Amino acid sequence: MEIIRQITLFKEKIKEARRLGNSIGFVPTMGFLHEGHLSLLRQARAENDLVVLSIFVNPLQFGAGEDFEDYPRDLERDAALAVSAGCDIIFAPATRDMYPKDYATFVEVERLTSGLCGASRLGHFRGVTTVVNKLFNIVTPDRAYFGQKDAQQAIIIRRMAKDLNMGLEIDVLPIIREADGLAMSSRNSYLTQAERKSATVLYRSLCLANESIAAGERNAGLIEQLIRAAIDSERLAHIDYIAVVDAENLLELDKIEKRVLIALAVRFGKTRLIDNIIVEV
Ligand code: PAF
Repeated sequence: MEIIRQITLFKEKIKEARRLGNSIGFVPTMGFLHEGHLSLLRQARAENDLVVLSIFVNPLQFGAGEDFEDYPRDLERDAALAVSAGCDIIFAPATRDMYPKDYATFVEVERLTSGLCGASRLGHFRGVTTVVNKLFNIVTPDRAYFGQKDAQQAIIIRRMAKDLNMGLEIDVLPIIREADGLAMSSRNSYLTQAERKSATVLYRSLCLANESIAAGERNAGLIEQLIRAAIDSERLAHIDYIAVVDAENLLELDKIEKRVLIALAVRFGKTRLIDNIIVEV
């Protein structure tokens, strides 16, 4: 496995792969890999000739006061994990090469970006779509792999790829969870022991919602209240949002009648965690 930092050198590799007729599977990440990322890499390995992982902590998607500086970085550890999951090339560009001083171009998806995480992290999705667009242009993948944990991000990227005729397949793979249900995330490493214990309430509350819908509840407001009560019972948990929305267009629902996305963001100390489930009725 190779680690390439320079964009020009990396593009040479891609050109050669294309000359040989190889298909390219791409897993974009900000590093500090966990089982969730590795599941994407394994899927990419199974479906493509060349597997590329990008590691780039994208400053554009962090707001003022967010954790850009503190975001965990460990390339050596990531390289060992990536190779074990079948990665061929890690592309790890420098910020100055991705965003030189005179950088002036941004990509924005409307509507889908205004609610949920977009409401509390202004400009976040503009940063995500801009960097993913740039990465797609550099890597030119046939297939790109994202995790369902970032459900809103996945929907937005699918929209962008379709709207801009990018001609690649976007695959979204299931959330990988710890044994106690906590969704895997690089940010879990920030949690104190007490916060880590409290954070199990996220999946527990989503499971309660799922059970209630399975038992016939269709009132979205009541489902939201059920989740809120469960999370509020944890002293260390501070709710950012709980949303019961249409799983295709992210519009808020009064009544649960079709495929719904139940998504939430909750703070534990300085750590903001997200989680979600999709419920089919
Ligand atoms: O999901 C992430 O890790 C990031 O938002 C992504 C897609 C790599 C863009 O920086």
